[in-house]
Amino acid sequence: MPAKAAKKTKPAPWTPDSWKSKPAKQMPEYDDPKELQAVEDTLRNYPPLVFAGEARRLKKSLAKVAEGQAILLQGGDCAESFAEFHPRNIRDTFRVILQMAVVMTFAAGMPVVKVGRIAGQFAKPRSDAAETRNGVTLPSYKGDIINGPDFTKESRRPNPQRIVQAYNQSAATLNLVRAFAHGGYADLHRVNKWTLDFVKGHPLSGRYQDLADRLDQALAFMAAAGITGETSHQIREVDFFTSHEALLLPYEQALTRTDSTTGEPYDVSAHMLWIGDRTRQPDGAHVEFLRGVKNPIAFKCGPSLPIDDMMRLIDILNPENEPGRLTLIGRMGHDKVEKFLPPLIRAVKKQGRIVTWCCDPMHGNTRTSTAGYKTREFENILSEVRRFFEIHYAEGSYPGGVHLELTGQDVTECVGGAYKITDDKLSERYHTHCDPRLNASQALELAFLIADELRAHYVRRRDQADDVDLPEKGG
Ligand code: PEP
Ligand code: CO
Repeated sequence: MPAKAAKKTKPAPWTPDSWKSKPAKQMPEYDDPKELQAVEDTLRNYPPLVFAGEARRLKKSLAKVAEGQAILLQGGDCAESFAEFHPRNIRDTFRVILQMAVVMTFAAGMPVVKVGRIAGQFAKPRSDAAETRNGVTLPSYKGDIINGPDFTKESRRPNPQRIVQAYNQSAATLNLVRAFAHGGYADLHRVNKWTLDFVKGHPLSGRYQDLADRLDQALAFMAAAGITGETSHQIREVDFFTSHEALLLPYEQALTRTDSTTGEPYDVSAHMLWIGDRTRQPDGAHVEFLRGVKNPIAFKCGPSLPIDDMMRLIDILNPENEPGRLTLIGRMGHDKVEKFLPPLIRAVKKQGRIVTWCCDPMHGNTRTSTAGYKTREFENILSEVRRFFEIHYAEGSYPGGVHLELTGQDVTECVGGAYKITDDKLSERYHTHCDPRLNASQALELAFLIADELRAHYVRRRDQADDVDLPEKGG
């Protein structure tokens, strides 16, 4: 049994709206509370987007990640948008995540837990609450669930009707994702074929060919032994979960329901919810809201997170030390991870807390190009991931997975990668509504490079297991 946290003073009772008595950062100011209330009442009668049982299944899978028996791959848009809503975008994001997962599963010899930043990732925290252009000041764009990106008074007004539109888009997105996951599209042989095609045309194909060929051979062997999509649903289907930042609390509260099986509250807007680096105050509204729902949850750990705050957050959000309940997503930056991550890992270990560690190599590595585009260097992203793996192994901890901003489209938002996107190319296909994403090729390239790390660890684990198993060596 996991150790319980040291007894602390009993927290005040939680209710779905107890967050309202706490300070809430980053929340929009709606000018018509009645309009907001009417929207919340509407949503309260809408169907859940996910089921509590599914969230529990994800929690179990994340517990496996915490134990070092599985890997977490979380990824998708920085911000979903109404304008980019198209089945092609959903399909391509789903597809690239599956491809990455297959490469990583094969290299690590472990299951990959697939979680999209999708079907609800609409609300954005911003560094500045307002934006000024040519002497005109308006509220910053905060994601399509809150206001619009156009720089006009009407567009930037936080509009409660957008919440209903975001719910509807999430429902339609999830419907398609479920169909892809269970309707035959995700068949392992098909995913493998896409990956072979990717490798064939890739500038670094020599480097990836070996892994791709071995994977292909393994699947051919299984098919010859009678294990195909026809005979096995594990080949034909995947589990694919949804997640987003729980920023807009009226939306999250309206979608919080009591699960009929357990009588416990679940936020049925997504399987997993996280708290951003700007809203993780231990006494704040976002922490208060998420402590009460039983979904698997996460919080981001940036370089400014004090160790004491992290430990308090762990106590508040996972008082029972339940495996799989809490994921810590480090987003330090490639040049800061070395300094700031090890003390956090040590504190968690020292206190015997069970967390799932994950690396977001995106948000600490953003810079602005001379032409004014927000971008990220592929090399810096890779470097933070590599350091994350090395640091965890050196600390005797388990690097559970990665959290990425990516798209299946061929955008030019992050620089570098095998196709060598440079600053002057950014304007060609820069489509993001918020932060720069890896494009399909960069995402898959990253998966192959992560696969090298996973493979090295797999070999180490296997050799250690051999040492234990063999009587003449083990004594
Ligand atoms: C995000 O994940 O899009 C985000 C804003 O991250 P962070 O809270 O880590 O800055
Ligand atoms: Co982002």
